Amino acid sequence: MSYQPLALDEDGHRPTRGRRHFCALLSRSVIGGVGLLCAVWALSYFVPTSWSRGAGAPALEDNRVFVKKPEAEDWKRAIARAKSFLKGWSVEEKVSLATGVGWSNGPCVGNIPAQPSHNFPGLCLQDSPLGVRNTDRVSAFPAGINAAASFDRALIRARGVAMGEEFRGKGVHVQLGPMMNLGRVAQGGRNWEGSGPDPYLSGEASYETILGIQSTGVQACAKHLLNNEQEWARTTSSSNVDDRTEHELYGHPFLRSVQAGVASVMCSYNQINGTYACEHPELLHGLLKREYGFQGYVMSDWQATMSTHSAKDGLDMSMPGDIVFGSGNSYFGTNLTRFVKDGKMGGDRLDDMATRILAAWFLLGQDKNFPEVNFDGFRPHSEKNQHVNVQGEHSKLIRTLAAKSTILLKNTHSSLPLSTKPPRNIVLVGQGAGPAKLGPNGYKDRGGLDGVLGMGWGSGTAEYPYLVSPLEAIQARAKEDGTSVSWFLDEFDTKSAAAASEGYDAALVFVASDSGEQHVVVDGQEGDRRNLTAWLNGDALVKAVASSNANTIVIVNTVGPILLEAWIEHPNVTAVLWAGLPGQEAGNALVDVLYGAVNPSARLPYTIAKRTEDYGTSLTLGETSPKKIIQIPYDEGLYIDYRHFDAQKIQPRFEFGFGLSYTTFEYSALVVKVLGDDSGANAKVWRKGMVKDGLAVGASAAAWLHEPRVSVTFQVKNTGSVSGTEIAQLYLSPPPSAHTPPNLLKGFATVDSLSPGEARTVTLNLSRYDLSVWDVKKQGWILPQPAFGVHVGASSRDFRLDGTFSL
Ligand SMILES: *[C@@H]1O[C@H](CO)[C@@H](O)[C@H](O)[C@H]1NC(C)=O
Ligand SMILES: *[C@@H]1O[C@H](CO)[C@@H](O)[C@H](O)[C@H]1NC(C)=O
Ligand SMILES: *[C@@H]1O[C@H](CO)[C@@H](O)[C@H](O)[C@H]1NC(C)=O
Ligand SMILES: *[C@@H]1O[C@H](CO)[C@@H](O)[C@H](O)[C@H]1NC(C)=O
Ligand SMILES: *[C@@H]1O[C@H](CO)[C@@H](O)[C@H](O)[C@H]1NC(C)=O
Repeated sequence: MSYQPLALDEDGHRPTRGRRHFCALLSRSVIGGVGLLCAVWALSYFVPTSWSRGAGAPALEDNRVFVKKPEAEDWKRAIARAKSFLKGWSVEEKVSLATGVGWSNGPCVGNIPAQPSHNFPGLCLQDSPLGVRNTDRVSAFPAGINAAASFDRALIRARGVAMGEEFRGKGVHVQLGPMMNLGRVAQGGRNWEGSGPDPYLSGEASYETILGIQSTGVQACAKHLLNNEQEWARTTSSSNVDDRTEHELYGHPFLRSVQAGVASVMCSYNQINGTYACEHPELLHGLLKREYGFQGYVMSDWQATMSTHSAKDGLDMSMPGDIVFGSGNSYFGTNLTRFVKDGKMGGDRLDDMATRILAAWFLLGQDKNFPEVNFDGFRPHSEKNQHVNVQGEHSKLIRTLAAKSTILLKNTHSSLPLSTKPPRNIVLVGQGAGPAKLGPNGYKDRGGLDGVLGMGWGSGTAEYPYLVSPLEAIQARAKEDGTSVSWFLDEFDTKSAAAASEGYDAALVFVASDSGEQHVVVDGQEGDRRNLTAWLNGDALVKAVASSNANTIVIVNTVGPILLEAWIEHPNVTAVLWAGLPGQEAGNALVDVLYGAVNPSARLPYTIAKRTEDYGTSLTLGETSPKKIIQIPYDEGLYIDYRHFDAQKIQPRFEFGFGLSYTTFEYSALVVKVLGDDSGANAKVWRKGMVKDGLAVGASAAAWLHEPRVSVTFQVKNTGSVSGTEIAQLYLSPPPSAHTPPNLLKGFATVDSLSPGEARTVTLNLSRYDLSVWDVKKQGWILPQPAFGVHVGASSRDFRLDGTFSL
């Protein structure tokens, strides 16, 4: 298989004609590997320079200089340095760069061996997307789904920076995150590690997280490419996804990751259309490296390498190196050496692999002043564990982000904030109010629901340094007002819970729902959730308390949506706070919102339905084995979550993007302006939906495609009596000819800390890419005709301003 580089654009971001023709000739006439190497060579001239996004989007220089550290390089120089560094390396030594040392044979979950003769210290790759796993004196950050719920780019970036500092402090070269599989199925076990079902939100959160992590000189890893959207049978299933859906939904966060300069990408366990992701040339060579212009390396998920030829198919690194954990053999290692020496794979492709791995290392400046690994995640008693405290001041950010990701879903009779009329007494009900009986890390990989839930379970976790429970934090706060605090932590004795709630000014009931990675089974759940209701006895508990207390406030700690129908309209349930997975500062952050120190601004990163079947997608279950591959049809195409609810006109309980505040906001003065024109050669073609020179326009990363083409300006005013932050959202309604869901999130702005009466003007830009749909026949992004609707408002169903435009 040969891959020619795409013609990128007319703005100086593509290889010269001569170079392209030379490559095309080579790849047609000689072996595939040469064409591929040529693609890398040609693409290395393509350094993206501008992606203007919505308000709050990073300034241009963030895109140009991905890393602020003085040691850092850009891709072009990093690739050049990698190439010269590799001079004189043997085939064996290059293969060694691409082969992990085997499960638990090093201190980190993944280890690339050192090569002292070349002055290469090796690489440490470590979980997880929310903190450094398997070591101590680290922070447990709010989960990815909470970062997304903040809809706050600055906070998401800051979380990335803080995590990067901790990984660096422990000597970790590669943080295995962010995770960006979409919440296609509400029950998906690992949804909480990512940003929910919306591709735009997931793309923005991934982009900011990567910029944050990599600003500290740590490599980020965009995972899992691609379509690992359920845990059941993840290694023995095929996700069958059409090309348009792949481009418009599941691929998008990976494109944004490449735009952020991500150093590495992890291919997933599953098959796509019957081919394993880690040996899928169309996916790895085609979509990721050629079309998205990815210049770093692809590593396999742990044990997801399926063959030696996967190297030829685009896999650059096998993790953790052995075929199965502890087997002592490898598809890479000597197998790959022989494969190259037997001429089954070109040496140029091996050079490409090694170049990509070392380029990422140079890109982040890791060749200079990078700390040595100072922990051993497999051997807690080894002397290698220096117990370096890397937490810095991160607890403050964690508390802020946890509060800024807590969503206020219901608030009647001004039940909240409690500070308005400090209660005489309050009672806390439910096991989730208190600490875990076994301590915060009592269950391996957090696989147990016991006490307040701050993260899901599996490899996407970290050890808590501590975990502040609501009970602890509320008692500390309550004494400021002389409020008496009581509690009843049993879930199942509802009669006593009701009795214990009588006569209190407020009853706070805690319910939860948990999920995680497939290798840990909790309460019969193999990763994915088997129901969308509260765990333990949550619903009955809320109803019991509400029957005896007229000011029942429900706090939900959860991995994803749960059904609230059992009690949401109960008149005594006056308020609902959706805390999600807040991390180590759970109780403190909750207090900040309950008492109004933080005015809630977070929004639902997914839809909360009235009935499970309303989602329209479900897990694909059934018997499976390596010989019996489960087929997962993504037949719903573009219609997941709110896109489906909107198209089918299904009323959700709470829609995507919804969240209340302690104040109110007014929107006005919408102005939609068309910027610039499409006189450039590619843009002309884009407009007309044509094909040029036998090549469709629309290499997805081309700069012209991401230039702003429409600006949307409006005003947001705080019309209430307290200061607050509004998350203004922009939804695009493409014309019917585009065959898209009715409304698509294409922008949001954090209108931060508006004082009462204060108004601010917001501008959100839409790029050509934002307006485009993927044309499968032409293999390019095209502009649908004739006219677009644009909506600005407070959620996916609360539009306050509507406009139209056409190009
Ligand atoms: C929107 O695009 C215009 C024109 O390129 C640019 O001047 C402006 O800074 C952009 N605004 C935002 C918020 O990105
Ligand atoms: C999977 O198959 C569908 C349907 O033929 C196709 O549209 C899509 O491009 C394929 N995906 C990949 C990654 O090859
Ligand atoms: C080479 O790969 C095969 C599987 O194809 C495996 O059985 C064998 O153990 C591997 N050899 C080494 C030395 O790892
Ligand atoms: C849903 O699953 C959880 C976890 O197993 C369980 O605690 C809960 O009772 C289940 N809900 C229903 C309604 O069966
Ligand atoms: C609401 O709470 C009060 C106790 O304050 C109780 O008397 C009443 O029955 C409750 N309402 C319902 C609908 O359960």
